[in-house]
Amino acid sequence: MSSNFPVTWIVNEHARTVRRSPAVDELFPPGISRLTRSFHRQIPGYRLSPLKGLPNLAQMLGLGGIWVKDESVRLALSSFKVLGGSFAIYRVLKTMLGMDHLEIPFTELTSPEIKQKLGDITFASATDGNHGRGVAWSASAMGFRSVIYVHKHTSEARIKAIQNNGAEVVVVDGTYDDAVRQVNEDAQKNGWTVISDTSWEGYEDIPRWVMQGYTTLFSEAQEQLAAQGIVKPTHIFMQAGVGALAASGIGFYHQLFGEQDPTAVVVEPELAACLYRSIEIGDGKPHPFPGDLNTIMAGLACGEPSPIAWKILRDCTDVFIKCPDYVAAKGMRVYGVPLRGDPFIVSGESGAVTLGALMFIMERPELADLRELLGLDENSQVLLVNSEGNTDPNHFRRVVWDGAAPVPPEYKEYN
Ligand SMILES: Cc1ncc(COP(=O)(O)O)c(C=O)c1O
Repeated sequence: MSSNFPVTWIVNEHARTVRRSPAVDELFPPGISRLTRSFHRQIPGYRLSPLKGLPNLAQMLGLGGIWVKDESVRLALSSFKVLGGSFAIYRVLKTMLGMDHLEIPFTELTSPEIKQKLGDITFASATDGNHGRGVAWSASAMGFRSVIYVHKHTSEARIKAIQNNGAEVVVVDGTYDDAVRQVNEDAQKNGWTVISDTSWEGYEDIPRWVMQGYTTLFSEAQEQLAAQGIVKPTHIFMQAGVGALAASGIGFYHQLFGEQDPTAVVVEPELAACLYRSIEIGDGKPHPFPGDLNTIMAGLACGEPSPIAWKILRDCTDVFIKCPDYVAAKGMRVYGVPLRGDPFIVSGESGAVTLGALMFIMERPELADLRELLGLDENSQVLLVNSEGNTDPNHFRRVVWDGAAPVPPEYKEYN
């Protein structure tokens, strides 16, 4: 049920007891982001995504800085997701070639000789949109076929975007989690290789490579922050579906700074808050979120945490937050129409929820306790990831132009 309150939060007491997370050391061995970046750098069209500062908004909210890693322009695919799918496919191909411990240049990987050695491979995946698009693009960039499974609520625009990247699309009558199950069954029958961003027992290598691939964006951000004279963010707010992106960011910083890592906050839609629920249950295990996951944040509409991501988030996330849809919608509008002097950012529903949540936390009197607990003040340098741009143009216009998902009158700051 929807609570309507903008930010509901829970403190993760376990994280306070963890000095060094073994889950982070296992998933992100030192040097991994150097490897992922050296792979991504070779992809035609690769560029660093921008890190944008919003100094005027930061000042208005009483913060030292807001830094947005803007993934809306990543390889012209409008989201960070391609970083994971491409690195996982690269690692799968290296394994198939028996060249696991070698770095193979992209040009060699896509050469006719290697293609002939590998034969025909079909990559398959379930998606809420962005991951499938990234897998489709990566498979076709490396010369392979892909089949992408989507759930019945996936918009026509998202399906088209996947098809335009060369994939066949199958629509499953169910949720994202049903699409995950179905693609696995069909892949077994057809001999396809599944590139999933979520893990399950016995299937961990590929989701680990996907998560390692995401670290490229955080290592870029670190460099970009350093260029601004900032050693590290004091806070990192990460949006989560299955939790792979959040665990990559939070794990990346834990690997770099250990106990001195930034205060980490995970943000989920209130009707798809599987990580929040897992912390609330409090037995140390991941738990599903019941219901049909009805949220405008399509990329975050996941009912089951990824177990390998969960281990990191359980160890290293300080506070879990869940928000109604209007928080994301507010974030989209603020990014799109910034204060004078701040850059404008195109941000989709899943991309914008962390900014929306940060604003409510800084502005609502009822959230003063959380503000204090997190230590958010004029010394804070907050890192956000705009994880997607305008990936669903109709819905984007409905929110940004027509004002869909309005802030309820009782939580409006500007009357
Ligand atoms: C735009 C966007 N942001 C964030 C996420 C969340 O990533 P994860 O499922 O790894 O938590 C997704 C997932 O698809 C996404 O598409």
